Amino acid sequence: DTPYLVDRFGRVATDLRVSLIDKCNLRCTYCMPAEGLPWMKRSEMLDTEEMVRLITLAVRELGVTNVRFTGGEPLLRQDLVDIIAATASLPEAPRTSLTTNGINLGRFAERLAESGLDRVNISLDTLDRDTFHRLTRRDRFEDVLEGLRAAKEHGLEPVKVNAVLLRGINDHEACDLLRYCLEQGYQLRFIEQMPLDPQHAWDRAEMVTADEVLEMLGAEFSLTPHTAERGSAPAERWLVDGGPETVGVIGSVTRPFCATCDRTRLTADGQLRSCLFSQTETNLREPLREGVTDAELARLWRETMWAKAAGHGMDREDFVQPARPMSSIGG
Ligand code: GTP
Ligand code: 5AD
Ligand code: SF4
Repeated sequence: DTPYLVDRFGRVATDLRVSLIDKCNLRCTYCMPAEGLPWMKRSEMLDTEEMVRLITLAVRELGVTNVRFTGGEPLLRQDLVDIIAATASLPEAPRTSLTTNGINLGRFAERLAESGLDRVNISLDTLDRDTFHRLTRRDRFEDVLEGLRAAKEHGLEPVKVNAVLLRGINDHEACDLLRYCLEQGYQLRFIEQMPLDPQHAWDRAEMVTADEVLEMLGAEFSLTPHTAERGSAPAERWLVDGGPETVGVIGSVTRPFCATCDRTRLTADGQLRSCLFSQTETNLREPLREGVTDAELARLWRETMWAKAAGHGMDREDFVQPARPMSSIGG
């Protein structure tokens, strides 16, 4: 029995993504309907102690070296700072990061940095206040900009910006977004939209592809491949006008990185997923609450990862989108 989370294809999961909450304070059209979703019940969600126990197990016994907190919107979780502090203070010193929409980060960045959080990735799809309102159904554009500034000010760096381009809505903003991020010192990445929306409205033909993004950026910037290895990172990066700044493209659909995937996922309700697109989950909450040992939880976790599929299978004839949407997997 190796202590690591390995699968049949020899991949090792050293990167744990923990979704802390399924709720969000935005309603991005590609992610949630206006009325929200049927949220998890409080009793179904792991509490602080349960979360920390599983994260500790992963870091201490299963070889996890990076822990990323996601949502929904993780800043909506009351005990976020406590969970981060407990994770960051483990003697194994895992690297910690947070994926957030940036709202309220203005208020929380300092406390997060003090609690030991290393860095943040912030979502921003547009630089136009009206487009932001239309796309997220909330008029909170300024709050996100403030969150970005606060993250940088408090050293949660590199501050990465995630942008999803939608045809006819914000796809003319690729160069504007890059110019802005270069000016502010943020590392921008464009993300191909994946079939993980609860509305099942994803349409491959509508997706703005990595190639298209690169072509649009090419009109204004000169891009050369970043020499550093992509490794298991989702983003392929290019030096902008000779560098040192870079821009990234996360081409999950047209340039999949599943062969080098190093991820394992835990949901807010205590379910393990070996892949974003897994059709099955392993319920850790139930055995946890029945009082099983760490050794048993570790065994379940290893077993889950061993069964991980080779890839997301989006190109297969029989591909079906998982029942759980992006907002409760955490991306
Ligand atoms: P770093 O590059 O380490 O900062 O993190 P990241 O890019 O993995 O994290 P982030 O949460 O910012 O994710 C950015 C985008 O990449 C989101 O749209 C995610 O859904 C997507 N993504 C993250 N991990 C995976 C993955 O394992 N598979 C696929 N296909 N997409 C992923
Ligand atoms: N495909 C790709 N990215 C998505 N995001 C949300 N839904 C999707 C999707 N279906 C992005 C958000 C955020 C990041 C965590 O995931 O815009 O930037
Ligand atoms: Fe890993 Fe699944 Fe993402 Fe592919 S789709 S990179 S296997 S989590």
